Amino acid sequence: MAIIAQQCPHIKVTVVDLNEKRIADWNDDNLDNLPVFEPGLDAIVREARGRNLFFSTEVDKAIDEAEMIFISVNTPTKTYGKGKGMAADLKYIELCARQIARVSKQNKIVVEKSTLPVRTASAIKSILDHTGNDVKFEILSNPEFLAEGTAVSDLLNPDRVLIGGDITPEGNKASQDLVDIYANWVPKERILTTNVWSSELSKLTANAFLAQRVSSINAMSEICEKTGADVDEVSRAIGMDSRIGSKFLKASVGFGGSCFQKDILNLVYIAKSYGLNEVADYWEQVILMNEYQKERFTNQMITALYNTVSDKKITFFGWAFKKDTNDTRESAAIKVADNLLNEQAKISVYDPKVKANQIYADLDYLKTRKETENKSLLTVETEPYTACENSHCIAILTEWDEFKTYNWQKIYDNMLKPAVIFDGRSLLERKKMEDIGFIYYSIGSGITKE
Ligand code: UGA
Repeated sequence: MAIIAQQCPHIKVTVVDLNEKRIADWNDDNLDNLPVFEPGLDAIVREARGRNLFFSTEVDKAIDEAEMIFISVNTPTKTYGKGKGMAADLKYIELCARQIARVSKQNKIVVEKSTLPVRTASAIKSILDHTGNDVKFEILSNPEFLAEGTAVSDLLNPDRVLIGGDITPEGNKASQDLVDIYANWVPKERILTTNVWSSELSKLTANAFLAQRVSSINAMSEICEKTGADVDEVSRAIGMDSRIGSKFLKASVGFGGSCFQKDILNLVYIAKSYGLNEVADYWEQVILMNEYQKERFTNQMITALYNTVSDKKITFFGWAFKKDTNDTRESAAIKVADNLLNEQAKISVYDPKVKANQIYADLDYLKTRKETENKSLLTVETEPYTACENSHCIAILTEWDEFKTYNWQKIYDNMLKPAVIFDGRSLLERKKMEDIGFIYYSIGSGITKE
């Protein structure tokens, strides 16, 4: 919404939320306090806020005034009842639709921006049509393809914008209205219009394919470690095949983020609900491979530390699910930490952007042990060198650029020996680390050769 406001000064954009603290943070004079850390976003908000971009808790008023409403609420995996652990929880979407229906007095276009299971638009339409004040609603699907950490550039220069609408004269008119907004800065040939179901399914499909690439290269990373191949070299070699392409082939300790797992589970649930068990199993394997990769990383650590990490200090560099974001949802670090805490390790975490209360909240959410135990077993440091003092090993969980620039000799000198690095992102230079004296394990190229 910030980008739309910045690119379209003639359009008034109001972002509403029930959460007063969140809205207050979006309105904070100090742009460092924006609730989301995203490179370049502060400048966009500075330019548009107060001009044609507004943040408010007056939800009814904003609905009443709007011609077009984007529903952008979360759709987490259900944690209860039918479809638990797989289906998307559409509770917030439904609440939104009911509120729009109750308040609206003029015809409106309602845009699904949240990622949703296929055919959700028809549920929204049914709620709007049956509970509203006889106003007409057109429902569009406009899935978001930005990635966190690069959101601003992804939005300013998207590969494509996808708009799904009803194939009726009214549906086409609504789609065109949204096309006209994006056309203010996106070349027309990159704006695709489809029917609603294709648009909804394309979003799930894109995330499933992306996650599948990561699981595929992660599966190869283990073969590389066993055979002496180097996964980065394999990625480079296959990525030069233009049919495969070079992006999204970086082996890692496992993908995280709010979307990949949720969207694939969603896809699996949809497939199962149509009785497509082979299709469901195929996609579920992408998730199982990802779980295995996190497990495998932890087991490598335990094995290399003489089969016990009990009472040993282990330093985590990175907690976010990827660099350049403070988002930790489904981050591999959470599972790896939980596994190691089960083995009675002592963990010290340093992440440039993630705050201590978030890290504890992530662990407490798992309910593996008491909150007090998480607090006593895991400490959060605000300085990387302190985090490594007297550590047995360092695990790199997020690929933050700054990790590459540290004084690794100084880090080595202050660690217990043998000092080990478990590089879950193959971020550092093996030779440099080995020359300093580290035992260096990197995902996809194994441990220091004796
Ligand atoms: C992903 C998609 O890339 C976006 O297109 C989509 O809009 C978004 O989900 C969404 O549905 O909201 P995001 O989760 O923000 O974006 O970040 P990604 O860059 O896709 O990374 C996801 C995870 O995969 C991260 O943990 C990342 O470290 C990992 N990854 C990515 C790898 O391990 N290797 C790679 O080569 C690429």
